Amino acid sequence: MATPLRTCVRCQIDILQATGKRRSSQSLTNVRRQYITLPSQLVSRRTYSDNANNDHEPSAGTRVTLDQITEQLGVSKPRIITQTQPRYPGEITGILEPETEPELTDEEFRKLHPGLGSLTPWSFPLDDDCKTIDSLSDHNIGEKVKIRGWLYQSKPGNTSIVFATILQGGKFVQLVFDRDAGYETPHTILAVRAHTPIEVEGILKYKPRKGSKFTTYIGEPTVPEDVENFHRTLEIIVSRYELIGDPPKEPIIAGTAHTGDKRYLAMRTSTDLLKALHLRNKVSQICRKHLDEEGFLEVETPLLFKSTPEGAREFLVPTRTPGQMYALPQSPQQYKQILMAGGILKYFQLAKCFRDEDLRADRQPEFTQLDLEMGFADGTAVQKTIERLLKRIWYEVLGVKLPSFRVISYNLAINNYGTDKPDTRYPMTIRPFERIIEQHSALSRTPVHSQWKYEMITHPCNISNAKLGLIASQIASPTDGGLAALRGPNPDCIMFKTGGELDYPHIRKQLLRIAPHLKAEPLDLERIIGAMASKNFLPTNSIIAIGRRKKEFNPGGSTNMGQLRKQLCQKLIKLGFMEKLVGWKFLWVTHFPLFTPINPSENEPGQSGTAGYKSTHHPFTAPTISTRENLLISPWKTLGHHYDIVLNGVELGGGSTRIHEAELQRTILEDILKVPQEKMKTFKHLLDMLETGCPPHAGLAIGFDRLIAILAGRESIRDVIAFPKNNRGQDLVVDSPGLVTGRQLDEYGIMLKNKVLEGQEEPVTLVEDEAAAKELEAKTVEETVEAPEDPIMPGVEENTVADPSERIVRLAMLLNKKNEAEEQVKIPTEEEEAVNMEEPLPVEDPLPTLEPAVEVPAETAVGTVEGSPSVFVSSGSSDL
Ligand code: AMO
Repeated sequence: MATPLRTCVRCQIDILQATGKRRSSQSLTNVRRQYITLPSQLVSRRTYSDNANNDHEPSAGTRVTLDQITEQLGVSKPRIITQTQPRYPGEITGILEPETEPELTDEEFRKLHPGLGSLTPWSFPLDDDCKTIDSLSDHNIGEKVKIRGWLYQSKPGNTSIVFATILQGGKFVQLVFDRDAGYETPHTILAVRAHTPIEVEGILKYKPRKGSKFTTYIGEPTVPEDVENFHRTLEIIVSRYELIGDPPKEPIIAGTAHTGDKRYLAMRTSTDLLKALHLRNKVSQICRKHLDEEGFLEVETPLLFKSTPEGAREFLVPTRTPGQMYALPQSPQQYKQILMAGGILKYFQLAKCFRDEDLRADRQPEFTQLDLEMGFADGTAVQKTIERLLKRIWYEVLGVKLPSFRVISYNLAINNYGTDKPDTRYPMTIRPFERIIEQHSALSRTPVHSQWKYEMITHPCNISNAKLGLIASQIASPTDGGLAALRGPNPDCIMFKTGGELDYPHIRKQLLRIAPHLKAEPLDLERIIGAMASKNFLPTNSIIAIGRRKKEFNPGGSTNMGQLRKQLCQKLIKLGFMEKLVGWKFLWVTHFPLFTPINPSENEPGQSGTAGYKSTHHPFTAPTISTRENLLISPWKTLGHHYDIVLNGVELGGGSTRIHEAELQRTILEDILKVPQEKMKTFKHLLDMLETGCPPHAGLAIGFDRLIAILAGRESIRDVIAFPKNNRGQDLVVDSPGLVTGRQLDEYGIMLKNKVLEGQEEPVTLVEDEAAAKELEAKTVEETVEAPEDPIMPGVEENTVADPSERIVRLAMLLNKKNEAEEQVKIPTEEEEAVNMEEPLPVEDPLPTLEPAVEVPAETAVGTVEGSPSVFVSSGSSDL
């Protein structure tokens, strides 16, 4: 007959205990937690009992029998071995003892309970007395240690000994299964498949030195002071091992480079990725600690943001309200500015950012920024903060003390290095070719107007003509990331070498091809080159590259000569003609043009304005006060209070002083960039915020993945991200992005134009009603058709603000305010600028006043700018 049971929590625990589910060491709380996995009927009874203050009095409706409970629990019925007087009918007060079950093997258990995994022993709580391989030290030598990891390799030594390795955290320790040392069945381990999780116990020893007998377990560390490789010096004389997980279904071959969908195996077997993740952790902790000490507050901002034309292409997140979508933030830019209006004086965040852009080694669609913003502050304060932080990181991670960072203007960066993110470690500087020619020839200034600016790179190098030719062909090769400027029927660059017999007529021909207006000039190349050589400007055996670029608005990024400089240096380093690059060259690049022309063919997102250009940084960057008036007539000549932090040619971060006047912000968006009205609405929150007495503020974001990649010495940020996307934006581990079902799309009111859905190869119609579908499709097309763009290219037409709206007039008045604040960062005038060459100039430099520059005092690097502020490539004296 079934024993009636009361149904309170306590009694059920008794039954669990009796049926072996509860171990004596488990606390009551733990057992209570187990109820979560009980059948819902029992859980609800428990709730009932709890609510009834657990007075151990079952109500009539909740009585169940022991049979019922044991059946529901799927356990065998316990035997009651003592029974004291019940306090109410049916109470079990005695101790229950389970019927002894026959011990099942794993295999029997799996058969009996398919889908429940295995029986022993890893379903039990694991003790925490294990060591990690990393924590092993010479103090543990001679001790009995327990380690959990993966069995990696095993091979027989002789008939009584088997060697294996246990893998954990990318590191291996040798295991010795030795009959002579008391392990009776050493060969059993050979049957265990590699990558099976195991627990081993044994005595830790140093490996015997090479040549000594296996059985002599007295060794010495071969590299004792090398902490990283300490594990290699060790072995464990195993006394016990236990499998604590299933073996891999398919054999995993040792030494395989695991990538893509098996990235976790790469993490398991190689220290590289793990090291990068540890480094990430360390640097993020330094950042948090440092910024906290400097009074910054870490604030999390939403990931479900909305679509605004801030600059990059966004990822949209549909909602179930038709047409309503979130957008993932391309950066927390707008939220952090709003925080400034909210009175947060110093904000920071390790923020997730999302941008749907072309992927490269240094770009991911989902990446992390160390983002910060400071209220009642300007860019100088931000730059100083970043400098202090980066110096601390370099010191704490690499033990390197960094000097003050150099500051150069965008214009100087483009002129001297041909890029806005120069690697100043390359020992080459671009110089204006025209001036060199002028100084070394009788060349009269040509009256012919040239739309080109000519530039030159020279570099002493004892390379053969054949090898240089090979380099040139490689640089020009389309398959080698080739430089278009050096290939094709009309290349923009030529390259040759002095020393030996030069084919002057050929060089002249090449030169005239890129500079046809020199035809009329007595261009005696032999004399010019000879003169340059005699003045030590051009040592014998120098590589010379001459290139041209348009004088018009500088499109940013890299020029042809900038790319040539980089690729040439890389090739010379590879061939051993140039020293490998070492060291850390930090640069602040400042005074960028506020706007950049949009290349209509590239369908760039920008701010969706119709002006023909977009914000170089983002539309919230303040114009510099001295160039602000350009906004009214030729906006593209305006410079921005924008600063990039560049390290060894990598743009590590960027930031700016922000616009904090609603009026100016509205003008830039509406009148200068010509953001369409429907898009203007998406900035309402920002404009509203600016109208509430917004403090001046400035900020910056460092690309955290790039920072870690540089510190780790990795080429690609993928190497320092646990789960990166490949260059098609896919995460192969989880196989994302994935197709969704028609039902899911229906739920979000979404209809695909090219309908490829999960499990369907043929296009499908998601809307039941064909007519409605057609109508919807027609509407979508109509709504997405925009008026054809007629971009006004900067430099072509002045005064884009043709219609001086009321706001423009007010802005003009604003600009005329007498009490303008002084600009924080002074830009030196042409006269103030002195020679600025990163590389030491030849002893007798024939071009002492060519390049504008300012010596940056060590302590006051931030705020002092080298370089001319002009946006345009100076046409003045460089005209031929
Ligand atoms: P910006 O767009 O310049 O500025 O971004 C700042 C830094 O973020 C990194 N970064 C990226 N890293 C990996 N993958 C990407 N796709 C990617 N895009 C950018 C770069 C870059 O320098 N809100 C502003 C900052 C500010 O003004 O405060 C911003 O996001 O290292």
